[in-house]
Amino acid sequence: MDRRCNIGIFDSGIGGVSVLKKIIKLLPNENIMYFGDTKNVPYGGRTKEEIQNLSRRIVEFLILNNCKAIVIACNTATIATLEMLKTQCSIPVVGIIDAGVEAVSSNGYDEISVLGTPFTIESGEHLKKIKKKNKKMKINTVACEELCPMIEEGWEKFGKRYEVLGEYMSHIPKSSEALLLACTHYPFIIEDIQKRFDGKVIDPSEECARELFRVLKKEDILNNDKNKGRIEFYVTGDKESFKVKAEKFLGTEIKDIYKVNI
Ligand code: DGL
Repeated sequence: MDRRCNIGIFDSGIGGVSVLKKIIKLLPNENIMYFGDTKNVPYGGRTKEEIQNLSRRIVEFLILNNCKAIVIACNTATIATLEMLKTQCSIPVVGIIDAGVEAVSSNGYDEISVLGTPFTIESGEHLKKIKKKNKKMKINTVACEELCPMIEEGWEKFGKRYEVLGEYMSHIPKSSEALLLACTHYPFIIEDIQKRFDGKVIDPSEECARELFRVLKKEDILNNDKNKGRIEFYVTGDKESFKVKAEKFLGTEIKDIYKVNI
């Protein structure tokens, strides 16, 4: 495998850009293809089979376009597809769930809360994995059906946004010491979340980037180039609205963005 091949990162939409930002920071010389399935977002209300079918075609596209590793920058898609993709792909596949589990389990908390999409919360995946590491930890989970679609469309557009967020946050007990953002869209509104929570808000994307680094190192496929890597964006929906939101979040101009029909 050529070290200069791409890292393929995908999400249902804009959310995975929060993971991309941390990957660029940690691995600035890697070439990256970011794929946002903006025509089919949100994934969080779909069945496992639907999410698997949507994800499979994205991964086929990324592999056809010279990717040396895949990052599922979406909690929902990680739960639905990680095991399947690991068996079907000949290149490494990294998900984001273990990063979140690691981030909350290693700090000695007695009680935490988890925010995620309906699919993520109903799967019970975080609960199971965190309990395996710490049987005694109290874990509260809240399914936030409306957050991902609102962030995807543009959070500021919604006059009722604080009301919606406040309603979800009202289910988090005051005794929670940390709040895990188990949806990659939520870091886009981390300040609004933090204002409504006294404990530590945990975004697992940095841990996910570190996991990618460990995998690339172990496989001996880290890009050794001294130059900055090329970042390309592929979306299945509207290019312009994606570009505006991603540029604002990344704080840099996006030049290479393409609409694809897969
Ligand atoms: N960013 C995705 C996640 O982490 C959102 C899923 C959705 O499209 O509902 O779960």
